[in-house]
Amino acid sequence: MKIYKVALLFSLSNSTFLFADKDSAVVNAKAVYNEKCTKCHTSTVYTREDHTITSFSSLKIRVKACAKNAVKEDWNEELVDSVSKYLDHEYYKFPSN
Ligand code: HEC
Repeated sequence: MKIYKVALLFSLSNSTFLFADKDSAVVNAKAVYNEKCTKCHTSTVYTREDHTITSFSSLKIRVKACAKNAVKEDWNEELVDSVSKYLDHEYYKFPSN
């Protein structure tokens, strides 16, 4: 019985951790974006009629390029991906995602 309780407790706390981790990736992307990416352009750069980004993969390339060239930071794949997902979700809404 005691072992069972410990196992249950472990599995519960483990799933809570997974949820918290998933949420924090989104919260983190938004926070990083708001802090580092809003100095030069506002959201109109994504929504203007002739915006240059037309797919999720080109969005990721642009996000990485802006991080590197404009913000002067070398972002890892995970951060590029989560900020791209955030921008896609908020503005671009590409059909495949
Ligand atoms: C130093 C200024 C500067 C900063 C800081 C900056 N950008 Fe940019 N960004 C630009 C310029 C300039 C363009 C090109 C605008 C144009 O084509 O008129 C651009 C364009 C973009 C586009 C393409 C918009 C489109 O669909 O046409 C995306 C996406 C983008 N930036 C994302 C980011 C992200 C993410 C960050 C934070 C890592 C960031 N930018 C930070 C200057 C900046």
